[in-house]
Amino acid sequence: MRPCRSRLEENWVEAARSCSRQGVASRAHVMPDHGVWSELAVAEAGQRSFSKADLVPRARVLALARRLADLDFEVPLAELQASGAPAPVAATEKHVGQECSLVGHVVSSGCLEGADTVLDLGAGRGCLSERLQQAAGTRAGFLLIDRDPQKARCRDAALRRRGRARRLVADLQHVRLDPALGRCVAVTKHLCGCATDFGLRCLRALDEDKAALGRTGPPTPLFFATCCHHRCTWEHYVNQAFVLRHGLSEGDFADVCALSHWATLQARPPEEAPRGEAREGLDWGQRRALGQRCKRFLDSGRLEWLRGRYATAALVQYTTLSVENRLLVAR
Ligand SMILES: C[S@@+](CC[C@H](N)C(=O)[O-])C[C@H]1O[C@@H](n2cnc3c(N)ncnc32)[C@H](O)[C@@H]1O
Repeated sequence: MRPCRSRLEENWVEAARSCSRQGVASRAHVMPDHGVWSELAVAEAGQRSFSKADLVPRARVLALARRLADLDFEVPLAELQASGAPAPVAATEKHVGQECSLVGHVVSSGCLEGADTVLDLGAGRGCLSERLQQAAGTRAGFLLIDRDPQKARCRDAALRRRGRARRLVADLQHVRLDPALGRCVAVTKHLCGCATDFGLRCLRALDEDKAALGRTGPPTPLFFATCCHHRCTWEHYVNQAFVLRHGLSEGDFADVCALSHWATLQARPPEEAPRGEAREGLDWGQRRALGQRCKRFLDSGRLEWLRGRYATAALVQYTTLSVENRLLVAR
């Protein structure tokens, strides 16, 4: 289902059209953006891609930068935990390093003991599940969920050779898990934007359905590595109250999501960085820092939501190999 166009997205498509008309697209800094509407705009603007962040008006960027700097939302990331990951891997193997760290967090938590099912939400090719299955030697079955049918042929066969594994091709927004899955542990690695919120709601519904059947117990432990915050949407975000309580509106939320993309700017500006670099009144490094703060803000709201349900919940830095380094752990 396509999200409704927000005001920002309307602006973005219009701005992209306008850039295209003016021939600006060919000069603009190119930054890939995986958002639905940016893909539309790319097509409409003529093969060049911008970040939506670059189209947030300067006054709003500066206002948000001040706002977020002042806010008392900060939740310190726990130190990178000893996670059972093997020796540091080369940056080229960053996904391996991230998987190993995630596996280490799950295994060292003890949550797998007695678990019936591991849920891998947004499982992609299934590499995380495979690594977890190998490392943990768990008797639990694996349920991989991903909306992309193309991913189904990847590591599933290897998973089934070693144990029980099934794949569900479905959008998490519409998934209702069966309480018959028994005691579950849920993992995600880089489940994009609002899909993380779908996953959180899906687990809450599972716990509620179990409770309705009289199966009381702690909520389903989860280990969620978040990413692509520019794809979060107001209507699906789990903690709108957190945003409003910090004095931000729905429109500000859309800006925060867009600006979060700046977190992924390279450490140094490229040689060909466009003129007008300080267009928003922020230099390259300040834009990166603001992007990271936006991501932290969005994950902090999710953390608060989890703290309302779980005995312990934390935002953990689980890797140094990527700016997408936050892991929500709740159990
Ligand atoms: C960045 S990939 C990560 C894949 C895998 N976890 C990994 O680390 O390699 C995100 C995955 O989430 C899936 N995904 C995104 N939104 C989803 C949704 N709403 N429901 C189900 N899967 C979704 C995508 O199809 C994609 O395979």
